[in-house]
Amino acid sequence: MNRLLKICMAALVGGCLLHAAPLRAADPYEPSPENREARKQFAESRFGIFLHWGIYSLFGQGEWYLSNAGLDPAEYAKAAGAFYPHRFDARAWVTAFKQAGARYVCLTSRHHDGFSMWLTDQSAYSMAATPFGRDIVGELADECHRQGLGFHLYYSLIDWTRTDYPAGWTGHGKGHAGEADYDAYFDFMKRQLSELLTRYGRVDCIWLDGMWDHNRDSTAFAWRMEELYDHIHALQPACLIGNNHHIAPLPGEDIQIFERDVPGENKAGLSAGQPVARLPLETCQTMNGSWGYAVADRRYKPTAALIRLLARTAGKGANLLLNVGPQPDGALPEKSLTRLDSMGRWLARYGETIYGTEAGPWHAGDSIVTTRRGNRLFLHVLSPNVEEVELPVPFRVRSVRTLADDSTPRHTAHNGLLRIYGLEIDRSCPDYVIEIK
Ligand code: GLC
Repeated sequence: MNRLLKICMAALVGGCLLHAAPLRAADPYEPSPENREARKQFAESRFGIFLHWGIYSLFGQGEWYLSNAGLDPAEYAKAAGAFYPHRFDARAWVTAFKQAGARYVCLTSRHHDGFSMWLTDQSAYSMAATPFGRDIVGELADECHRQGLGFHLYYSLIDWTRTDYPAGWTGHGKGHAGEADYDAYFDFMKRQLSELLTRYGRVDCIWLDGMWDHNRDSTAFAWRMEELYDHIHALQPACLIGNNHHIAPLPGEDIQIFERDVPGENKAGLSAGQPVARLPLETCQTMNGSWGYAVADRRYKPTAALIRLLARTAGKGANLLLNVGPQPDGALPEKSLTRLDSMGRWLARYGETIYGTEAGPWHAGDSIVTTRRGNRLFLHVLSPNVEEVELPVPFRVRSVRTLADDSTPRHTAHNGLLRIYGLEIDRSCPDYVIEIK
């Protein structure tokens, strides 16, 4: 059996084209110097942890339960009175994320159900309505700052509980009736964002979601996003703005988000409308199939698949924002913790091939991706079936080295073609990394 992977020029060109798509509209927004610096830092960090946590976790059916089950928001809201996550320990959480090799954390501050995970003055429907009474956003912010992890906040643009939010195609549960008033709702969001951006020190990113709620309207819905972006940047110029709207980036955004898709792919069916832009990129993905805690969802991806996903996103020059759905008692699911631990051990060894790298010039489907750091190219062989690789090399090859054991794999390099052969990859190896100088 000789499984040869010839990586042709087409792949090389494809890899280069990936960053060439222009923004859809001319972008009049000029990021501030501190924002540019923050983008650079973000793009170097490559791995973050997404946290979907809220009173929806109590139901154990994911964060869309209110909408999916067509519930009355007032009945659903009673769960706040039972939210007492006594095992919540920001220090232990952040320690686990740091050990996993993550460089930042993104917490759902307020999801589509409208419940705020901090002690907001703008609504009674918040942590203040729970017997726990503690400020989750604040505790996590402090701990991220203390341990040197970036602190990002997810913030939903839609609200299935407030009646002033003009409902789109989601959240049509019983009892959700009232006078829609987007101007009033918009001001509410601005006031909440002011709290988030003035109370908790540095917030590295505001991660918006929900614009797709009005993508089925017959006339365009006026979200006034540029105004909201100006508001965020006026409060914290370095704060990166990302919006999970599944379309090309809008003026004022600092990063581009891909939901459940590696940039340039459309496997989840959510990325058809978004070409890859010249912004720092982020792919968010679940560890099992759900964002919020889902008691019946045992379909956890194997650790090897998560490591490969991290390599594949890095190979596209993107970060991976990997989700954990904390339990209602405040503990992190055991299956998530074991995966994080293994990823941390892998990154401790191979982190130099991921952090601070750029997209490499070659990729071949899901089997091979490359990352690059200066004159070092890292070939990530993600399938144990590959025995031989041929790469076009428009440069002089100085050395070829297998990182796992510092050995030199058999290879030839002439006529602009590097051939690496005789590879014997252990089936348990998630990512066989070869460094080419
Ligand atoms: C989708 C879902 C939302 C989730 C988000 C994470 O927008 O509606 O529940 O928070 O994806 O990427």
